Formats: sequence, C-alpha cells, structure tokens
Amino acid sequence: MLLCTVFLISVVHSETRFNIGHSATTEQIAGWDIDIRPDGFGLPEGSGSVESGEMLYEEKCASCHGVFGEGEDRWPVIAGGIGTLMEEKPEKTVGSYWPYVSTLWDYIHRAMPFLEPQSLTDNEVYALTAYVLYLNDQVDEDFVLTKYNLPTITLPNEKGFFIDPRPEALNSRCMTNCLTTKQMSSWSAADLGVTPLEHLSNLVPATAQDDLELRETNTLAIETYKKACVICHDTGVAGAPIFGDKEDWRQRAEKGLEVLYQNALNGYLGEKGYMPAKGGNSGLTDESVKAAVDHMLRGGLAD
Ligand code: HEC
Ligand code: HEC
Repeated sequence: MLLCTVFLISVVHSETRFNIGHSATTEQIAGWDIDIRPDGFGLPEGSGSVESGEMLYEEKCASCHGVFGEGEDRWPVIAGGIGTLMEEKPEKTVGSYWPYVSTLWDYIHRAMPFLEPQSLTDNEVYALTAYVLYLNDQVDEDFVLTKYNLPTITLPNEKGFFIDPRPEALNSRCMTNCLTTKQMSSWSAADLGVTPLEHLSNLVPATAQDDLELRETNTLAIETYKKACVICHDTGVAGAPIFGDKEDWRQRAEKGLEVLYQNALNGYLGEKGYMPAKGGNSGLTDESVKAAVDHMLRGGLAD
C-alpha cells in the first residue's frame, strides 16, 4: 500500500501534475491496513475468553456455523475434521486445515458475521477466536486469548503449508523448430491425465455403452502414449514423427493401419530412424500399443 503510493507519487512527479486526488491520510491508511501476521504483528491490544466467546458465538454465529461449528445446512463447517486431510473426502476446517491462528482472528475481524462485517469490537474478536479454537479442541474452556499468547498457539496443520521446494523451471526460449499451438494443446491437463476424469464415466447413462467404451479406450491410449511414446514422439527425438505433425502422419497413414500397428508392436527401422518394439516397453499389452497408435493418428490427422 505505502510502496504503491510512493511509486505513484514518483511517476506523477516525473510527468505533469494533474491536481486530482490527495495524499492518503494516516487514518485512511489505518482503515485499510488491518492484516495480521502469523507472528502477531498487527494485532491490537485486547483480550477475550472462551467463556465470553461462547455467548457471542451463540448469538452471532451459530445460526450459520452451527452450535458446535458443524455448519447449519450448507453454511461452512468451521470445527472438527482434524486428521481427515488424507482421506477420500477431507473436511477442511479452521482446526483441520488452517495454518495460523492469526488468519482466524483476521478473518473474523474482517469478514464476520457474514451480514455485518467489521461490526465486532477487538475484544469480541479475541473472544470469538478463542471460542472457535475451543470448538476445535485447541484450547481449554478457561482459556483467555490475548495479543501476546495468540502467536504461541500452533494449529495441527501448520507444517502442511511450506514453500514449494522444487527448483524454478528456467527453460530457455525456443527460437527454431518450436512446437505448434496444436501440439501444445495436447498438453491439456485432461489429456495428460493430471485431472482424473475417469469417475465422471459413472455419470454416463447405461444406454451410452459405446460412448463409455470409447472413453475407456481413449484413457488407455493417452496413458500408454504418456508412459511409453511421449519421450520420442512429442518432440521428434531420434527422428520420430512428431505428434500432431499432419504431413508426416498423413504419409504414414497411407501404409495402412495394420502396418503401422505391426511396426509399433515389433519395431521398425525406417528412413528417419529406429522405432523400438512397443517403444522399448515390452511390458505393454498389444491392445494398449494399438490404442496409442490410434491416438497418434487422431492427433496427426485431426481436422
Ligand atoms: C449469515 C451466515 C453467517 C453468519 C451469521 C456467520 N458466518 Fe462465518 N461464514 C459464513 C459464510 C458464507 C462463510 C464463507 C465465506 C466465503 O467463503 O467467502 C463464512 C466463513 C467463516 C469462516 C471461515 C471458514 C473457512 O474455513 O473458510 C469463519 C472462521 C467464520 N465464518 C466465523 C464466523 C464467526 C466467528 C461468526 C460470528 C461472529 C460468523 N462466522 C457468522 C456465513 C456466516
Ligand atoms: C525411442 C524413441 C521412440 C519411442 C519411445 C517410440 N517411438 Fe515410435 N517411432 C520412433 C521413430 C524414430 C520412428 C520413425 C522411424 C522412421 O520412420 O524412420 C517412429 C515411428 C512410429 C510409428 C510410425 C511407423 C511407420 O510405419 O511409419 C508409429 C505408429 C509409432 N512410432 C508408434 C509408437 C508408439 C505407439 C509408441 C509408444 C508405445 C512409440 N512409437 C514409442 C521412435 C520412438
């Protein structure tokens, strides 16, 4: 916020002055500057007990979030679920998922109650934060939350949040023989199988059996391609016909599907290079290799 102001001022100075607006006053900045850091920086003086929080919670929060934080109807659940994050249906709540108590204080202070945000006093926010922690079994019933002890409370999932340790991908820019947009579109998350879509096939009505089979073959094709063919055929390693290269695949298609199947299954030495049997992956079934060939042909001959 401050940096932004400084930046704007310096830009305006170097150009003409338009004489509109005015510098933000200290009060205006304070009105925006309400964020709280995990180490407690930004918290106001004040305190609140679980006991006083309980009364406030029942009056102002329970109608939506439930008396025990279990959530009325479809309003958000804010307590429980601890230890469920690895399950099929994780329950993400303040106690099971959130990393820091400061986030809870900030959220309640900034946005709750839903229909009257920023109507609570600081002490009320301390009390409600204490009570939500209590509902999540993080503090005892006689606990009093203050500016000073707030940063000392650690939530169960704090360690679940960390800085991504993987190195930056600093690829150099491609200037020649680069992939076409078409080739890159085969990298969609669904095609690569990054987004699991198989379960959606349950939604297909039983009468659409053909469609379902088609989808299954398609999944098999894409998976085989990714596992055993992509390494050469995506970029043309060792002379392999590139996925999506229409000209190359059209010529190959003229040999007939059966020839292409046999060459992919048994290996083949052509003018451009050597295609190893099953892409060098002898564990693949013939069916999956054929499906991958179909997939490559579709990719090459589409539209
Ligand atoms: C009218 C219904 C309503 C009332 C009353 C209400 N909330 Fe909420 N609360 C919501 C909704 C809706 C959200 C989710 C908002 C969103 O995701 O943008 C929410 C989100 C929250 C969350 C974050 C949940 C999460 O995991 O993302 C907390 C914590 C919370 N409320 C606490 C409170 C407290 C404390 C009070 C009482 C002072 C309160 N709420 C009153 C509707 C309500
Ligand atoms: C180690 C690299 C490599 C891998 C892995 C690989 N291929 Fe190939 N493939 C090639 C090369 C090189 C050619 C072109 C040979 C030529 O025509 O000179 C080729 C050609 C083909 C052809 C065309 C054959 C023809 O008769 O024109 C098909 C079909 C094919 N590959 C399918 C596959 C399938 C399916 C997979 C995965 C199961 C796969 N390839 C994995 C290198 C590879």
